[in-house]
Amino acid sequence: MSHAPRDLVVVLDFGSQYTQLIARRIREQRVYCEIHPCTLDFEKLRAMSPRAVVLSGGPASVYGEGAPSVDKRVFELGVPILGICYGLQLIAHLLGGKVEKSDAREFGAARVTVEKNEGILHRFAKKEQLDVWMSHGDSITAMPPGFQTIGVSGNTPFCAVANAERKIYGLQFHPEVVHTPRGGEILAAFLFDVAGLTPTWTAGSFTEEAIAIVKETVALDEHAVCGLSGGVDSSVAAMICHKALGDRLTCIFVDNGVLRTGEFEQVVSTFRENFHLNLVAVDARERFLTALKGVSDPEQKRKIIGRVFIEVFEEEAAKVKNAKYLVQGTLYPDVIESVSFKGPSAVIKSHHNVGGLPERMKLKLIEPLRELFKDEVRSAGEALGMPRDLLMRQPFPGPGLAIRCLGEVNEARLAVLRGADSIVSDEIRAAGLYETIWQSFCVLLPVRSVGVMGDERTYEEACAVRAVVSVDGMTADWAKIPYDVLAKISTRIINEVRGINRVVYDISSKPPATIEWE
Ligand code: XMP
Repeated sequence: MSHAPRDLVVVLDFGSQYTQLIARRIREQRVYCEIHPCTLDFEKLRAMSPRAVVLSGGPASVYGEGAPSVDKRVFELGVPILGICYGLQLIAHLLGGKVEKSDAREFGAARVTVEKNEGILHRFAKKEQLDVWMSHGDSITAMPPGFQTIGVSGNTPFCAVANAERKIYGLQFHPEVVHTPRGGEILAAFLFDVAGLTPTWTAGSFTEEAIAIVKETVALDEHAVCGLSGGVDSSVAAMICHKALGDRLTCIFVDNGVLRTGEFEQVVSTFRENFHLNLVAVDARERFLTALKGVSDPEQKRKIIGRVFIEVFEEEAAKVKNAKYLVQGTLYPDVIESVSFKGPSAVIKSHHNVGGLPERMKLKLIEPLRELFKDEVRSAGEALGMPRDLLMRQPFPGPGLAIRCLGEVNEARLAVLRGADSIVSDEIRAAGLYETIWQSFCVLLPVRSVGVMGDERTYEEACAVRAVVSVDGMTADWAKIPYDVLAKISTRIINEVRGINRVVYDISSKPPATIEWE
């Protein structure tokens, strides 16, 4: 897929936990930006014609053995360069300054005084104090010739530096984190005042371009298929392709028997009636539940659901004439992860429900969202006129309620779980908490306990309510839901759902627990 030329900023990644944030902050300034590993071949970098380059932070020491570095010709590209933390130390190290182990390591909040209000600090007043976030063990003891100090902090004389002539800048602190409240102004000064870029990257411009690319890619007699789950990513990807291809896109939505109350009907009516998508809705409940019979091992459940999904999808896709493409809602963080210079992520995700499918069916992939972060997908969806309640949906795992129905998955237990889960969902929404919570749901536990209902002794299963706050699902904290909301959820579940006589609230954070129970 080719792109119309657009201004590009390249962030070279040296392994900082904040690299993605740098890219997000730059994009918030409406400048398109991509992350590449620091090992990116120099000729490839040059061929991208970046308008500016950012060198990220990283955990290494520049003088350490095997420390990641960068091709020195980067500094000869003639485009503005900003080094952040490790990036700055690398600039010092490679261009003739000195970096040493420091006694005064700085981690956390610090204050920087603006010494010269020029270059990246041009938007501030001289002697202005800025709150910043530091995190470095090494210190620069001498900058290379041609560099000037433009900002200092107590322990760090080379806190912000500039070589105005070569347009090379460096910051010892992190402008991309929220603890550097005015970091956005520094990045804006770099992008607009130093690099002369224009803020043109918007969700609207992105969707138009994405639609045009899909149109160009798929020939007029060719068709595309898309596995629609009703989640944000596959929905927005499908809408982009629908705008480009109309009825030459077939979306396949599979009822795998482990969806939530009303979910199948909702997704079908939204996409068929409101958006006029060419949607094939497949009722494969029995097939999935038969395959899951007697299985209680979590990974087994995932494998079975993945396998049956592929079988069903393949059968349906085979009915689409001249299908040449498969649409997937891959996002930028997955793309970055797969090219990370640290190698493939240690976190093993079994989330790719159609893994292996494109090769088997000889389909080429269309991934219209592969440049976007999650919040940008939502903005793209808005630009496409999709309703907020669809775009703000909490994530829901591919294996669905199967991994929330601990123990054996069968129709009877799923019905109990669905009943409890929809009460959680209703009450969280009614309390106005749905959008601030990352995920909120119910888990049915294969544990029986004694209770009393009226004059009768009960002996039924328990359910756990799980609600977490998170930014990306990688780490999460349990949500501090008000007691009265929890009380209402508990009372309603015990009164209204036959089969549950006890409700507990999960107060574990991730790590060490995970969001799902299986
Ligand atoms: P955990 O439980 O690992 O979940 O903290 C992190 C995020 O991933 C979702 N999740 C899955 N999504 N297939 C999916 O499509 C899966 O097998 C799966 N397992 C977990 C989970 O809901 C949370 O958002």
